[in-house]
Amino acid sequence: MTVTRSTSDLAARFQAAFGDAPDGVWQAPGRVNLIGEHTDYNEGFVLPFAIDRTARVAIRVRADSTLRLLSTYGDQGMTSADTSSLTTSTAKGWTKYPLGVIWALQQRGVAVPGLDLLLDSDVPLGAGLSSSHAIECAVIYALNELTGAQLEAEEMVLVTQQAENDFVGAPTGIMDQSASLRGATGHAVFLDCRDQSARLVPFETASAGLVLLVIDTKVSHSHADGGYASRRASCELGAEVLGVRALRDVEVADLEEASGLLDDLTFRRVRHVVTENERVLETVDLLGTSGPAAIGPLLDASHRSMRDDFEISCPELDLAVEVSRANGAIGARMTGGGFGGAAIALTPVGAEQQVRIAVEQAFSEAGFRKPDIFTVTPAAGAMRLS
Ligand code: GLA
Repeated sequence: MTVTRSTSDLAARFQAAFGDAPDGVWQAPGRVNLIGEHTDYNEGFVLPFAIDRTARVAIRVRADSTLRLLSTYGDQGMTSADTSSLTTSTAKGWTKYPLGVIWALQQRGVAVPGLDLLLDSDVPLGAGLSSSHAIECAVIYALNELTGAQLEAEEMVLVTQQAENDFVGAPTGIMDQSASLRGATGHAVFLDCRDQSARLVPFETASAGLVLLVIDTKVSHSHADGGYASRRASCELGAEVLGVRALRDVEVADLEEASGLLDDLTFRRVRHVVTENERVLETVDLLGTSGPAAIGPLLDASHRSMRDDFEISCPELDLAVEVSRANGAIGARMTGGGFGGAAIALTPVGAEQQVRIAVEQAFSEAGFRKPDIFTVTPAAGAMRLS
């Protein structure tokens, strides 16, 4: 992927491709979820943050209903469509994300004009850092201005969720887009997914002498595949049998009784969600009282729960977590939807290189692909750049 990083480069490239200057350039970040996995669609709690890797879109409104979409990825060429006849079958590759957002806006009665759009992104694709939501959030943020729709962040979150669920075909929740739209530098977003109430929680690794390493296993995954949907179905079944609106309404103290009412598999799925909600609350408390250095054991417990109860990890993620911990990380877990993607390792500044080398070596010995290992910091949410 050729990434065009400066705003003026992107505008110049737009001009060369479409023959005119863009009306503006907007950006939205990917995200790392610190803790709270598969809790969002159970109306529970999550604690993600926006990262310093973003998708950017340069857009110009056209006088007709034609859509022309191009990316700096260079592998797909120009895609053309018409705003009056959008269907999932017109959408190929990355274009399903902007087209899905336009379609979802139309479902809400927002008239979307024809557009020329150039996308640039340095959020790695398929790495579990929400590259797709970064694109969707950059587009909704831009179109919210360009169409005069004047949606609040909470509504933009729901538009992008509808794009994902009904256009892209991935039955995902609201965590990723909430982080991308509502994130802030130096903070994680503590979100209650039942009513979208959110609080920014300071998460400064540097002042605690830590870095947050992302280990992209290069195992690609898709939430439109069956694994994500089947976990969601198990959660819905669990809630129905237990007679609650959502698993958010089940407490850790209820688990013993629940074990007698649910089959073993459904019980383990439920136990993950219920204990994970509790871990999010504990993490938020600990960050407030003791700072990032105190949350390692909760990250570890979250990973075990996803590996053993929710069964969404994979050998590469488990190895990344295990080797990071054995080489100085104070806590590690897979992040995102699972079945591949990335792990995070909260690591003391001095141990960063050792973790990096040890994980690369362990992957090589296991015959796995070389992982991509980099640090992230909590960064700003979606914004207009020019
Ligand atoms: C994906 C989805 C989110 C969330 C996570 C798991 O990232 O897009 O809505 O469900 O998986 O926590």
